Amino acid sequence: MKERAVFTTKFGALATTVGSAVGLGNIWRFPYEAGVHGGGAFLLCYMLFVFLIGVPVLCAEFAMGRGTRSNVFGAYSKLAPRQKWQFTGYIGIVASLLILSFYSVVAGWTVEYCISSAFGQLSFGDMAGGHGQFTSLTTGWRPILWTVIFLFCNTFILLGGVTKGIERASNILMPMLFLLLIAFCINSMTLPGFGEGVRFLFHPDFSKITPSVLLGALGQAFFSLSLGLGCMMTYASYFSDTNRLGRTAAVGAVLDSSVAVLSGIIIFPAVFSFGLSPQAGPTLVFEVLPYIFSQLPGGMVWSTLFFLLLFLASLTSTVSMSEISITFFCEEKRMSRRNATLLSSAISLCGGVLCALSFGPLSGFTIGGLTIFNLFDYLSSNICLPIGGMVCSFFVGWMIDKKFLRDQFTDYGRYRFVLLPLLTFSLKWICPAAIFLIFLNSIGLL
Ligand code: PHE
Repeated sequence: MKERAVFTTKFGALATTVGSAVGLGNIWRFPYEAGVHGGGAFLLCYMLFVFLIGVPVLCAEFAMGRGTRSNVFGAYSKLAPRQKWQFTGYIGIVASLLILSFYSVVAGWTVEYCISSAFGQLSFGDMAGGHGQFTSLTTGWRPILWTVIFLFCNTFILLGGVTKGIERASNILMPMLFLLLIAFCINSMTLPGFGEGVRFLFHPDFSKITPSVLLGALGQAFFSLSLGLGCMMTYASYFSDTNRLGRTAAVGAVLDSSVAVLSGIIIFPAVFSFGLSPQAGPTLVFEVLPYIFSQLPGGMVWSTLFFLLLFLASLTSTVSMSEISITFFCEEKRMSRRNATLLSSAISLCGGVLCALSFGPLSGFTIGGLTIFNLFDYLSSNICLPIGGMVCSFFVGWMIDKKFLRDQFTDYGRYRFVLLPLLTFSLKWICPAAIFLIFLNSIGLL
């Protein structure tokens, strides 16, 4: 087998992890899920899940990836050769292709918004508001074009190789996106609905914590941290031996969730200032943002820059999701990297077209009350990812030698990792049990 690539710097490893984690999940999905699920109550559950379940599972994925230096299948089979744990890999592949399908549609919207604002065609604050504009841009066949363009960009990067481009781009783009979000947050404070928006986001109404809020928050925590499908495992297989996994996991989670919170601080004050509803669902952010840009001097420039960065942040995430199916097709099915990439792109393209149409011609087609877009999102984020995370934590907690985890987190005894007992306990008990209970709860068995 050919030598595996290694991220050259520690900052590069962190930036790439954050590059995978930060994307539409934080800026598009978090506000819409929080809006639908009651604001503060959702944020509270989401934060608890990120740090109580997400970080330990992230640590487990990091340890498995770096410790085995292989893809998800390889990692499970190297650590438990005679057992059939590899099936988790299949869940990851299905989930990654489902996510890639709907994610590309939303990323396609960002391309549309970016180009429209660059050419001055995105109107700010007039029409029937952002809603009319959004509808005119996304119904019909047009979004298919943008989805195809986005997937084309994704395929182009993937065909170019594993780390170099991704690493270099993430190093510059992620900090830039962060700064831009902070600037928009400051602007948010000047809006008349700032108080109401902040109250909505930070004031938990405990009566709103229902089984679906819990499941939604768990799914969001996994989605946002790119967990449960082996993505972080695959990336960690490229980390250097000296990378401090605990630190990378903690810093990654803090940065990732702060982007989500920043995004909430940008969106909700605007929602209340302009008399919109926080419950708009997947279209929320795209309807609200044009209003925000209309308030800024040089709105067109801000808007173009923002959507450009969002598009690039989405690319760093889709590249990481695609790696899962590509490494599987390459390493387990013996395909060439080129064919594996094309196959993965072709599958996501078919799924993407269906998802794109579910806002237009296929909007009446629902399964269990969900459009294809929402179904793909629900199945992957709320079902596949938590199951993947549950299996991974159970596996690391119970099935493999404790020494493995210790070696990975102390660099073979070279430094101390005081939280190791807590991490082990959490992987053994808290993570598998909590995820299982949330599932039982959501299907009404608890
Ligand atoms: N975490 C990414 C985001 O927030 C989405 C993602 C999910 C990426 C799963 C990889 C794997 O946008």
